[in-house]
Amino acid sequence: MNHRQFGRLGCPVSEIGYGTWGLGGWTGSDDAESLRSLHRAVELGCTFFDTALAYGHGHSERLLGQVVRAHPDRRLVVASKVPPKNLKWPAKAEYPAADTYPADHIREFTAASLENLGLERIDLMQLHVWDDSWAADEGWQRAVEALKRDGLIAAFGISVNRWQPENVLKALDTGLIDAVQVVYNVFDQAPEDVLFPACRARGVAVIARVPFDEGTLTGTLTRDSRWPEGDWRNVYFSPENLAASVARAEALAPLVPDGATLPELALRFILSCPDVTTVIPGMRKTRHVEANLAASDRGPLPPALIAALRAHRWDRVVQHAP
Ligand SMILES: NC(=O)c1ccc[n+]([C@@H]2O[C@H](COP(=O)([O-])OP(=O)(O)OC[C@H]3O[C@@H](n4cnc5c(N)ncnc54)[C@H](OP(=O)(O)O)[C@@H]3O)[C@@H](O)[C@H]2O)c1
Repeated sequence: MNHRQFGRLGCPVSEIGYGTWGLGGWTGSDDAESLRSLHRAVELGCTFFDTALAYGHGHSERLLGQVVRAHPDRRLVVASKVPPKNLKWPAKAEYPAADTYPADHIREFTAASLENLGLERIDLMQLHVWDDSWAADEGWQRAVEALKRDGLIAAFGISVNRWQPENVLKALDTGLIDAVQVVYNVFDQAPEDVLFPACRARGVAVIARVPFDEGTLTGTLTRDSRWPEGDWRNVYFSPENLAASVARAEALAPLVPDGATLPELALRFILSCPDVTTVIPGMRKTRHVEANLAASDRGPLPPALIAALRAHRWDRVVQHAP
């Protein structure tokens, strides 16, 4: 496992981290399997874990905390997220900052996450949604300064809305943001245009999320894929989006190197970008942990293959994002 410096936090993290949304309770989740997978990831050298209070109302945080506390000899870096007070996803400019992230809400929910995790400090606390019209608001700014001063968090970050990678640039200018979490994968290459240079210039860490486009880039979806009722993926993969996504994934097949897989190609594409600090595939199954963490050892993709993958960029329209 290769490591990269986590921006201003000043510590190295594994370049492949662990996304824990699914184990908060996606259809088919099994806690025993999730715990085995988390422990296996630690054994294989994974040191960065992303969770959120919203993932199963603290369930993902509780599972992760259990595993982190079981490995006191390892420097495991934990990132969590404060849900918006108005519970509206994604953020929109018309929602006032004071309704979404007032200072007392950020404080209260950080305390709740600390309790769920069973830890005294969270390495990175993030806002789960963001609109850059809130950048100058003093409420969230005061909360961040106080949480750092009181030692409850080491660093602060923002998770950017899907397909809006530039909707955070004003926040970066406040100097209070240590990390940005953004959708970046073979399809969603737009963060390279403006966001990554802005992060590079300020020493802000980049967490690349949704490396498999929620499943398309694993190559396991078909035009007939359906999830049990209530599973959010039925919304994300509307029939039109599913058909288009599967067609685009199929078009990648000739580019997968001999002996490799589409998920490996997807992860190595992301890691080929030096602006990425860590990529966080969502994983519940141990076989996925083993396959994904092994991608670090294979190194960056050859430049000719990166160039070929540039043609598969897919800029999507924001209003279709759930
Ligand atoms: N707003 C936000 O801040 C936000 C939004 C979305 C995601 N995130 C974070 O980003 C993380 C990653 O995103 P995601 O989990 O939504 O999507 P993702 O990483 O693109 O895809 C996860 C899916 O891929 C499957 N998978 C993983 N490795 C595989 C492999 N080698 N072969 C076949 N299938 C594989 C997983 O299956 P299993 O689960 O069955 O192992 C899961 O169904 C989340 O877990 C979360 O931490 C944050």
